[in-house]
Amino acid sequence: MNSLKFISTLLPFLLLLLHAATAIRFDIQNKCSYTIWPAVLPHGGGRRLDSGQTWTLSFQNGPKLAKVWARTNCTFDSSGKGKCLTGDCGGQLNCTTFGSPPHTKAEYGLNDFGRKDYYDVSVLDGYNLPMEMTPTTNGCTRSVKCAAEDIVANCPSQLKVDGGCQNPCTVFKTTEYCCHAGECRPTDMSRFFKSRCRDAFTYPQDDPTSTFTCPESTSYRVVFCP
Ligand SMILES: *[C@@H]1O[C@H](CO)[C@@H](O)[C@H](O)[C@H]1NC(C)=O
Ligand SMILES: *[C@@H]1O[C@H](CO)[C@@H](O)[C@H](O)[C@H]1NC(C)=O
Repeated sequence: MNSLKFISTLLPFLLLLLHAATAIRFDIQNKCSYTIWPAVLPHGGGRRLDSGQTWTLSFQNGPKLAKVWARTNCTFDSSGKGKCLTGDCGGQLNCTTFGSPPHTKAEYGLNDFGRKDYYDVSVLDGYNLPMEMTPTTNGCTRSVKCAAEDIVANCPSQLKVDGGCQNPCTVFKTTEYCCHAGECRPTDMSRFFKSRCRDAFTYPQDDPTSTFTCPESTSYRVVFCP
């Protein structure tokens, strides 16, 4: 067998191996005592998830980026149109656009060059539900969460809305809170979140204490009300 023939015989198997190696999985669990409507974008959409249920998503190649959040107090008609109190994505059950604030979110990103996964739990779009993200493969184990029970109840009055607590950038839209230019620092408002969720992204330049990494192609569990 010449080497070209050998390679062309082997190629489908090599591709299959590569494929298997890059498949990752998100297990999204609702441990809240009530129904929630989680969403995953840009791939995944959104659905209803009753208390105790798990939604498993498998991605064959990637994704390069994903955000996971949950909507609360939703009503939808049989065609999947309706609305939610928090996290609403244009009134659709199966989301195609990001949710409106406030909503706690877990984020995942792939660095093609570093061959690493980045992940975090963020309150840059505010907070509506306790949330935890945990790597489940590749020997990666560092769990990150924002799950302080009193965030909505004790939310500063300027940030408080029905069902959640806004990030100060959403409300005030100033450079101080949004870091539109240059360096910025934590604020008393962002410290309200940081003191309760030390692993969470609480203002736009919160990276050093809030971004975690795993080897490329790690799978994750995302738990609401951990
Ligand atoms: C929701 O949208 C995704 C694409 O974003 C699609 O793969 C999925 O099948 C849709 N689910 C339903 C129930 O329509
Ligand atoms: C939203 O849903 C929760 C859980 O079912 C419930 O306790 C709460 O009263 C609802 N809030 C509103 C404003 O309907």
